[in-house]
Amino acid sequence: MKSILFLLSSISLAASACAQGKDYFFHYVAGNSVINGQRLRGNFSIPYVSPGVSHAPYNPSDHFNRIHLNTSLTSTAPKVLLVVPTNPHPPPVPGYYGLSNAEGFDSAYRLVYSYRPEEAGNGFVYRNWRTNGNFLRFDIGGASDDGYRWIAVREVTQAGNERWVPWWVKPTVANFATLEGWEYDIAELELVEATGPVNSLAPGGVQE
Ligand SMILES: *[C@@H]1O[C@H](CO)[C@@H](O)[C@H](O)[C@H]1NC(C)=O
Ligand SMILES: *[C@@H]1O[C@H](CO)[C@@H](O)[C@H](O)[C@H]1NC(C)=O
Repeated sequence: MKSILFLLSSISLAASACAQGKDYFFHYVAGNSVINGQRLRGNFSIPYVSPGVSHAPYNPSDHFNRIHLNTSLTSTAPKVLLVVPTNPHPPPVPGYYGLSNAEGFDSAYRLVYSYRPEEAGNGFVYRNWRTNGNFLRFDIGGASDDGYRWIAVREVTQAGNERWVPWWVKPTVANFATLEGWEYDIAELELVEATGPVNSLAPGGVQE
């Protein structure tokens, strides 16, 4: 994960083609009382690049992860989820939300973002997002409902802060022991429309 963070500091400027589509935030539905109904934030204070839900008080630079869709929400074609910069850092370059299996677990992908998807390796996939209503899906291989679901996994930072981050997983014999060792809840990951403009100085990076 560190390598992805490192990329944030070594980026060349390029134009972002954000013609159609609206902006959204990631939002958990169900799961548990900490995460249900909460929007997901980034955390620039620690070396994690997964959006997640944590407890207040929030670091003012931990903005809601804002997403621009390259098409309309209702389109049945594959979608890409573009990163909308809300901080001075990351800069306004094309970044993508995708799924990473860099940690090497069978059929288990962490939600992350990358500014250099072509260098993120085979374990980073980002071109096959789909939506079912407002619910996010991803086609890893075959059909999007091919046994995969969202889970919110509890992580504890070095400072002792709890965060819940999304993984797209399919239970298999090969990952059974891994999942048994995780603390997680089954949830849905939804896109909620952003109504306010980006404002990096406002709480969560959005003026509402
Ligand atoms: C959005 O991106 C996906 C993946 O690259 C692509 O298949 C699709 O055609 C794009 N949609 C539009 C409207 O550009
Ligand atoms: C980010 O990490 C810091 C340090 O662990 C913590 O104090 C803060 O609450 C975290 N914020 C979020 C949104 O995870």
